[in-house]
Amino acid sequence: MITHIVGNRPQFIKLAALYHELKKAGCEQNIIHSGQHYDENMSDVFFRELNIPKPYVNLAAGGGSHAQVTAKAMTGIEEELLRAKPALVILYGDTNTTLAGAVAASKLCIPIAHVEAGPRVHHKSNPEECNRIVADHLSDILFCPDEISMQNLQREGLAERGCMTGDIMYDTYLVIAGQQAQEEAQEETIVMTWHRQENTSDRERMESILRLVERLGGRVVCPMHPRTRKCLQEYGLWERANAIPNFEIIESVGYVEMVKLMQSAKLILTDSGGVSKESSFAGAKCLFMLDVDIWEDLVNIDWLHKVDPQSEESVVDALRFASKAKHVEVADRPRFYGDGHAASKMVQALRERGYL
Ligand code: UD1
Ligand code: UDP
Repeated sequence: MITHIVGNRPQFIKLAALYHELKKAGCEQNIIHSGQHYDENMSDVFFRELNIPKPYVNLAAGGGSHAQVTAKAMTGIEEELLRAKPALVILYGDTNTTLAGAVAASKLCIPIAHVEAGPRVHHKSNPEECNRIVADHLSDILFCPDEISMQNLQREGLAERGCMTGDIMYDTYLVIAGQQAQEEAQEETIVMTWHRQENTSDRERMESILRLVERLGGRVVCPMHPRTRKCLQEYGLWERANAIPNFEIIESVGYVEMVKLMQSAKLILTDSGGVSKESSFAGAKCLFMLDVDIWEDLVNIDWLHKVDPQSEESVVDALRFASKAKHVEVADRPRFYGDGHAASKMVQALRERGYL
């Protein structure tokens, strides 16, 4: 039995590709949902759209501090792993659910495969960095989305466990994009996502992001993460956000709708690790609102351009970048994240290393 441990929106998207590939290989699998994300449009919609079976258990660990979520998830995962005794646990990404799964499984001496291993922002103030480091060091096989991740693992003495597969999000992206008739480039739309702790835990920071949206002009469509909505409301900025004429706030969307949005964008404004990378799949350059060095290959070709909404100089620079942005045709998009067959490479590696 292989047990997948997931709990967050981007993990469901990654799980989809590997679940289907393992099923093709005839493997017996089950899914533990930590419950870290729990709204219908943050969880169930992805299982439905991506045809993933319902998790056999939901640990309802969502909605607390880092320690509360991690502790609740860890306790529940331990219980489930003791009961089910899987031969392998598969973890995804860098969230508190990943951390909880890594600690619980490794202490029960269950082998762990970590999907999306190796990215580093070299900054512990980024909460996900702590999760990535722990998960990578406790895992037995490390599936990397790009060469830079492989190099990071090598620097940390983990090269032997590393396996370059390319990005599994690209697998799912291609399936969903392929189901859509044609890309409809709407040159005017900027798609925005905004949810990181660094951008939602301070009123001034949130206000500066709203000012940036306003100054971008053009239509900015933002499927809003529930955390961001709650923080805007808490800081008394909700009315202000809704009064920005070019700002279209909508509910968080499922992946089918999200892919449609990204494909029709001329630019993406985000603080999401996943969305900033997907921008290169969808052909929209990216303004990245977080001061961490993420996806360096995209930074080096100025596809991914950092902006600090609290610095006038940086905002002026970002507006210049945005004014030149236009939808990029498939042939001209960068290709740093594999060929869309990461999941099959993972299954092959698991087999070669004796885990299947
Ligand atoms: C988490 C991950 C982050 C990832 C993101 C993906 C950690 C430390 N962070 O951040 O790495 O980028 O998921 O989206 O694990 N909420 C709801 N409904 C939901 C989910 C969340 O209302 O379905 C609200 C709750 O108030 C919750 C808050 O959002 O307390 C934050 O949720 P949480 O899962 O802790 O962090 P994310 O910002 O989603
Ligand atoms: N996403 C989605 N609907 C939304 C916003 C994002 O389907 O309303 C997808 C997005 O395309 C990407 C993933 O969710 O595949 C990224 O999740 P998120 O930004 O929450 O997390 P991160 O990647 O930063 O960990």
